Amino acid sequence: MNKIVNSAMMGVAKRIMMCRPTHFKVDYSINPWMDEKIQADFEKATKQWDTLKSTIEKCGAEVVVMESEDARDYPDIVFCANAGILRGNKIYLSHFAFPERYGEHVFYKRFFDKLGYQTSFNHKIIHEGAGDALWCGNGMNILVSGVGPRSDVQACQDIKRKLKLNSDDTFYVVAARLVDPRFYHVDTCFCPLDEDLAMAYMPAFDSVSQNNIRNYTDLLPVPEKDARRFVCNSVVIGKNVIVHHGSDTTFKLLEQHGFQVHPIDMSEFMKAGGSAKCCTLRLE
Ligand code: ARG
Repeated sequence: MNKIVNSAMMGVAKRIMMCRPTHFKVDYSINPWMDEKIQADFEKATKQWDTLKSTIEKCGAEVVVMESEDARDYPDIVFCANAGILRGNKIYLSHFAFPERYGEHVFYKRFFDKLGYQTSFNHKIIHEGAGDALWCGNGMNILVSGVGPRSDVQACQDIKRKLKLNSDDTFYVVAARLVDPRFYHVDTCFCPLDEDLAMAYMPAFDSVSQNNIRNYTDLLPVPEKDARRFVCNSVVIGKNVIVHHGSDTTFKLLEQHGFQVHPIDMSEFMKAGGSAKCCTLRLE
C-alpha cells in the first residue's frame, strides 16, 4: 500500500478541474490511438474517472467538476487539459485543430466565466491549451508549448501577450516541435515534476526543441515502452504522481527521486489517446 503524502500537509493547496465523462466514447479518429472499431467501455470509463478523482482528492487537492450533459456532441470534452492555458485569473481558451473538438470552447468559456476568470480566444490561431503547454523551470515561469500536430507556432507570442498579468509579470514561452504522431500533445511526452525536474520521452521532439527544453529543466528520461503507456501523462501533486499502471522502469526512477507513485487504470481513456493528466486541468 502506498503511503500518501498529502499535498495540504506539504503546504501545497491545489485545485484541479475535471470534466465528467457523460458522453465519452470513441466516435472518430483524430490521433493514432483512436480506432472507432475499438470502443471504450462506458461503465468502466466512468469508474476509472471516479478513481482518478478520488485519488487526486486523497493526495490533498480539491477537484472542481465541470458537468457536461449538454455537450453530447463532444465525446472528448472529458479531456479538459485541452480547455485552455491558465495564468492567475486568466485563461487562454483553446482553438482546437480538428472540427470534431472545435465547439468545446463554448462550454469551457461558460465554465470559466462562472468561476470569474478573464477569458480570451483567438479565432485565427490554433492552440490546444494546457494539453499542449506546460509550466516548468525556475519559478514555474517557462511555458513549454507544443508546435506541429495541434498548435501553431504563432500562438507562442499571442499567449505571452494575452496571459501577461501586469507589467512586472515575466514568463517565457518555449516552442517545442513534436515530430512523432503518437505523441501529438506536449503532455503525452513531457511532464514537469517540480521546478528543477521533468520526466520526458525526448525523441518525440525535434533536436532543436530537445536542446531548448534542456536549457530550462533537468530531465528524467523515460523509455519508449513506458511513454507508450502514457507515463508522461501523469497528474503531479506535490510528491505524488498519479499515473496509468505498468510503467515499472519509470516508477522506480520516480521513487529514487523521492516521488510516490499511485498507479491507476486509465485503459478506456487511452483508447481515445489520453490518460490521467489529460482528464485534469490545474486551476491555481
Ligand atoms: N481524443 C482526444 C484528442 O485527440 C484526446 C486528447 C488528449 N488530451 C491531451 N491533453 N493529451 O484530442
